[in-house]
Amino acid sequence: MAAYLDRVPWSGIIRIRDMMYSVKDPFRLDQGDVSFDAPATVKDAMTRALAENRTHYLQSTGVPRLRELIAAKLRTKNGIAGAETDHVTVTNGGTHALYTAFQALLEPGDEVLVPDPVWPPTASMIQTAQGVPVGVPLHESLEWRYEIDELRRAITPKTRAIYINSPHNPTGGVLTRADLEAIAELARERNLWIVADEAYEDLLYEGEHVSIATLPGMYARTLLMYTFSKSYAITGLRLGYLVIEDPHLRDRAQKVVLYTTSNVSSIVQFGGIGALEGSQDCVGGFREELRARRDLFYAGIRELDGVFSGTPPKGAFYAFVKIDPALRATDAGRGNPSLSWAVTEHLIKHGRIGCVPGVDFGDTGENHIRFAFGRERAELQGALDAMKVLFGARV
Ligand SMILES: Cc1ncc(COP(=O)(O)O)c(C=O)c1O
Repeated sequence: MAAYLDRVPWSGIIRIRDMMYSVKDPFRLDQGDVSFDAPATVKDAMTRALAENRTHYLQSTGVPRLRELIAAKLRTKNGIAGAETDHVTVTNGGTHALYTAFQALLEPGDEVLVPDPVWPPTASMIQTAQGVPVGVPLHESLEWRYEIDELRRAITPKTRAIYINSPHNPTGGVLTRADLEAIAELARERNLWIVADEAYEDLLYEGEHVSIATLPGMYARTLLMYTFSKSYAITGLRLGYLVIEDPHLRDRAQKVVLYTTSNVSSIVQFGGIGALEGSQDCVGGFREELRARRDLFYAGIRELDGVFSGTPPKGAFYAFVKIDPALRATDAGRGNPSLSWAVTEHLIKHGRIGCVPGVDFGDTGENHIRFAFGRERAELQGALDAMKVLFGARV
């Protein structure tokens, strides 16, 4: 019965993390985390909850006040007019929300269209629900967006859902309103569900985040995933939520949450109440600092004489850069049949720089590398200086 789990892969990111343990004084540009401290609004609320002994079992769907605040946020900030408290289920981070969504939605063999490249756990979680992730390329020439006809052609009688993630990990690409309208039309025409991963909703450097659930008729056929991890820099606390209007799917999802966790940590949920009741200034502050880090990182990359190239992303905090094919003929590109793995291993071993090979995110990612620029400026600068030394012969 459980043998199918043997076919669910571990992510290459795990291999990188293990490699990084052997590196002294590393530059951790491999991890999708930000260096900021948790906002005082979160920490104070958690401390208060502990002092008030809020340490007992809770409703498995989440603390009512938190669910109410989330529903209000969905209506006012995301513009989803129909969002109600009952539609919200609190989860152990966005990962648990996505896991729950796919468990609730998929029958064995159901296909889900995912972007290629994709955040690897998404594909693995689809497989964990015995579904089949089907990659549809994002194109660098389109700033890492879909060719909508390709998406249409990938739909088969087995397709159950389209998973979208904008702003996107690993490329930072952002789907336009027109893209979302075209995807919504496909979903309506072909009777598909949408799983919308809006983990990076607050990390957009240009324009405003648009949720596909705001488009006509779409809230009813969309499973929405959000997380506090990136917006409030609390990746380790594990707080996210799943939003489903459809009562049947919601009932299934709430069973998955009940039987996988009983309830999300009480103290963490009170932290979430603090985050939403308090000032939102930290969210904008984090974004502006990340913009400055993005610009610093790309300015440094440009000084490397074409070793890496790419347009700065419009969202998220990843630099998904193309590797100069000429590196193949150098020490940096020889160590592995995959160029992106060879260069990653070279950067880790010889430059102490953590990063992730593009191919780990899918075939379209080969010949690229992902650097996460959510680290302190000094750490980013250290990595850039190390790259200059490493590729010095070319500069
Ligand atoms: C695209 C995407 N979705 C979801 C998540 C889940 O984040 P968390 O489980 O920390 O909420 C991440 C985390 O890196 C992500 O990159």
